[in-house]
Amino acid sequence: MSNVISPAAFSARLADVAAATETALETLLADGPEAKGSDRLVAAMRYGALAGGKRFRPFLVIETAALFGVPLEAAMPTACALELVHCYSLVHDDLPAMDNDALRRGRPTTHIAFDEATAILAGDALMTLAFDVLASETAHPDPAVRVALVLGLARNSGVGGMAGGQMRDLAAEGRFAADRKPLALSEAEVLELQAMKTGALLAYACHAGALIGGASAAETAALAAYSNALGVAFQIADDLLDAEGDAATTGKAVGKDATLGKATLISLMGTERAHARLEELVGEAAAALAPFGARAGMLAAAARFVADRKA
Ligand code: IPE
Ligand code: IPE
Ligand code: MG
Ligand code: MG
Ligand code: MG
Repeated sequence: MSNVISPAAFSARLADVAAATETALETLLADGPEAKGSDRLVAAMRYGALAGGKRFRPFLVIETAALFGVPLEAAMPTACALELVHCYSLVHDDLPAMDNDALRRGRPTTHIAFDEATAILAGDALMTLAFDVLASETAHPDPAVRVALVLGLARNSGVGGMAGGQMRDLAAEGRFAADRKPLALSEAEVLELQAMKTGALLAYACHAGALIGGASAAETAALAAYSNALGVAFQIADDLLDAEGDAATTGKAVGKDATLGKATLISLMGTERAHARLEELVGEAAAALAPFGARAGMLAAAARFVADRKA
């Protein structure tokens, strides 16, 4: 049985990890090799990556590595690399050519605060900084582990992961179709799209924690099952917040998915069934953690958090 962590204890731990992540990102974006570039580009990278966000992916890297006794500091470079890719994905996701959003994390999106070209380049440079961080010795003392961390992030961010999923997400709106009509995707197709656009980076978080911690094949597989359920839950919750949340709480525009004809599980099953599915997924995620027993209480609480979050 996993050690039950209360929502308050979970929130306190997430806040601590988020603060530590913010400090580490601040250092990377102040002193990192890429900070020697143009001032405007660095300012936009800092704007897109600092001061905001739940830092949930870094949390997952750190807590997964902690299952194997790895201290927070040792997992932090990898946690930052993943968060840099996530922030880049958000900067690009908000661009006029993609979701065309003006609000992110409660403030103007990067292309509004700067300009489109600068936002594109800031996203590019955040992504390459992520691989710079992972390839550096501070990420892990063993070069073979560093290569595995780099490979995993590349695969999960690229055409078979986040970027590929984003492409399917836009295609589903019908924007590349001659008649411009939204595509009628099946539930399986929506699940695959979302597993790529959102699930892949969350899966990487747990995979990276397993790599850093030297997990066995069975432990790695258990964490993959956990993160797969978590990834589906995360995007259902995001889509429910778009349908039912408000911009003041979420920090981003709401009510857009239905207008755009986005392919979501809500468009297929309605909000009631989506809430029920979310509950099932929390259970599936927790069940996948069984091999870790009481040590995995924080990760089980993370699944609960994903379903209950309001932002
Ligand atoms: C938003 O991710 C984009 C999705 C993949 C749904 P988050 O909800 O983790 O956004 P931040 O980082 O907390 O702002
Ligand atoms: C985006 O999904 C997922 C990414 C890979 C950035 P959404 O487009 O639904 O994310 P939000 O709602 O803008 O954060
Ligand atoms: Mg999008
Ligand atoms: Mg978006
Ligand atoms: Mg959304």
